[in-house]
Amino acid sequence: MKKTKPVNIREMNFNQLFKQISPEEICDNVFTLAGKDFYVITAGKEDYYNSLTASGGGLGLLFRKPTTWCVLRADRYTLEMIQKEQTYTMSYFPKEYKGQMLFLGSKSGRESDKMKEVELTSVQTPSGDMSFKEARLIIECKLTQITTPNPNDFYTQEAKDYLNEAYKDASDYRKYVFGEITYVWVKK
Ligand SMILES: Cc1cc2nc3c(=O)[nH]c(=O)nc-3n(C[C@H](O)[C@H](O)[C@H](O)COP(=O)(O)O)c2cc1C
Repeated sequence: MKKTKPVNIREMNFNQLFKQISPEEICDNVFTLAGKDFYVITAGKEDYYNSLTASGGGLGLLFRKPTTWCVLRADRYTLEMIQKEQTYTMSYFPKEYKGQMLFLGSKSGRESDKMKEVELTSVQTPSGDMSFKEARLIIECKLTQITTPNPNDFYTQEAKDYLNEAYKDASDYRKYVFGEITYVWVKK
């Protein structure tokens, strides 16, 4: 029987690994994507980039544009990088990379070398944003809005309590980050 050589994704380039789909072709359940699974947000370019792990948020239409949104704490280094670069990726991984995703969510890139330590293979998308070869789905976004929610605008006690707790210190403020989806890539 002819032996097939195991595929080493580390040796493959972006175009060999991923194909472009439209936002409408994303077939994941949005509640699983945003809730049950968590994801990695990366901002920066090949020479310098940073990632964090996030959960929650969602996908939809905002002002008729396919849009993602996520909630980031004000002191996240990745948020600072998103503001600087104004583009970023949201990467979703197969289950076996959960440990690496948790690692990216365990310490800040502001005071660590986590991007060098993480056992994922960085890759540049054709537009120059950064993601990882191990990802199964990559959503590229153009920053459209960073909103600071006002606790007085919330109507459930639960949300008010959450935001009041989050607003004790300016570095704890939650920011709502909206990005227009520019490209979507899935593993071939
Ligand atoms: C499963 C998981 C989900 C997380 N979700 C969020 C989130 O939605 N928003 C957020 O600001 N931080 C979240 N974090 C925490 C950040 O990933 C973590 O603080 C990270 O170290 C920040 O890195 P940075 O400062 O390099 O950007 C999450 C962490 C984990 C492990």
